[in-house]
Amino acid sequence: MRPLTAHIRLHHLRHNYQTLKQLHGGRLLAVLKANAYGHGAVRCAQALAGLADGFAVAAIEEALELRAAGISEPIVLLEGVFEAAEYALADEHRLWPVVQNQWQLEALSLYHWQQPVNVWLKMDSGMHRAGFFPHNYAAAHQALMQNPQVAEVVHMSHFACADEPQKNMTAEQIATFDNACGHLGGACSLANSAAIMAHPNARRDWGRAGIALYGASPMGGADSRLLPVMRLSTRVFNERVLQAGEPVGYGASYITPQSTRVGLIACGYADGYPRHAPSGSPVAIDGSRSTLIGRVSMDMMTVRLADHHQGLGSEVELWGDTVHINEVAAAAGTIAYELLCNVKRAHFVYETA
Ligand SMILES: Cc1ncc(COP(=O)(O)O)c(C=O)c1O
Repeated sequence: MRPLTAHIRLHHLRHNYQTLKQLHGGRLLAVLKANAYGHGAVRCAQALAGLADGFAVAAIEEALELRAAGISEPIVLLEGVFEAAEYALADEHRLWPVVQNQWQLEALSLYHWQQPVNVWLKMDSGMHRAGFFPHNYAAAHQALMQNPQVAEVVHMSHFACADEPQKNMTAEQIATFDNACGHLGGACSLANSAAIMAHPNARRDWGRAGIALYGASPMGGADSRLLPVMRLSTRVFNERVLQAGEPVGYGASYITPQSTRVGLIACGYADGYPRHAPSGSPVAIDGSRSTLIGRVSMDMMTVRLADHHQGLGSEVELWGDTVHINEVAAAAGTIAYELLCNVKRAHFVYETA
């Protein structure tokens, strides 16, 4: 069996949830969209059931998968519905839709709810991606409040730059949000992971934790308060010693500077490892740090073996405990979110302790 394995430490997920909830205060949604950032949404939801105050997903398909697996916690649809007919499913499965534009608001008002619905009303406080403009927000809120089928409205907004605490934009977005809805009453939700960790002013009734739940700091680097949930590992399945001046891999882009022991490992860009990770990107072999050399291929890549490495059969960590995923992301010019979401073809092994 190909040895590429994503070890998913569900006890780390629970630890991170508890840490983030304590930081934020109030209630905290665990964001499980995109298959729980590549970790497996159902398994993550099951691990957090009874602990998490609720879950958030991008779209109704993701919510229905959780309901089909028996998950009964509140589930927020972060993008709302994509067509009006989805409100009937949201009703049947007790989902909480975000309303972020006029047609979603009107369709929600036209639908005859069988049971009271909780709505999350989204404001565009400056990110300019989705949500009602501040000057239209109170009217949208009023329309919902006049609807007897609407049980509760949670005010929400999303930050553009919460992971860059040196910028003013988050403070400006908070001020815009408070000015537009501070007088309306009701619960509020502002903070994603970065805001939970770096912007105390953004901590309100509900937080929404995604990336940090999986143990990656949204600010880059490592954060000792968080435990990495995924550990992606594989094995060396071939080795050779090359003399100085020999090329390695596609494009012959890497030339050995001296005699080099090269290990071939089972992981490539078809598994979600970033093709743009250059020679020098970190890996850990038998627990000690080494580097990638040569280009990442579809199914394989090559690593530098030191004398103390076993070689054939050595375990290689792509990211996890010794190599932080943010290091790989930085080397490849991307973010941990993208790396995690892209993992595929690996064997997923779920661990609980
Ligand atoms: C509306 C909303 N809230 C919360 C999150 C979670 O963000 P993060 O993973 O940065 O914690 C996202 C992610 O994109 C989002 O779109």
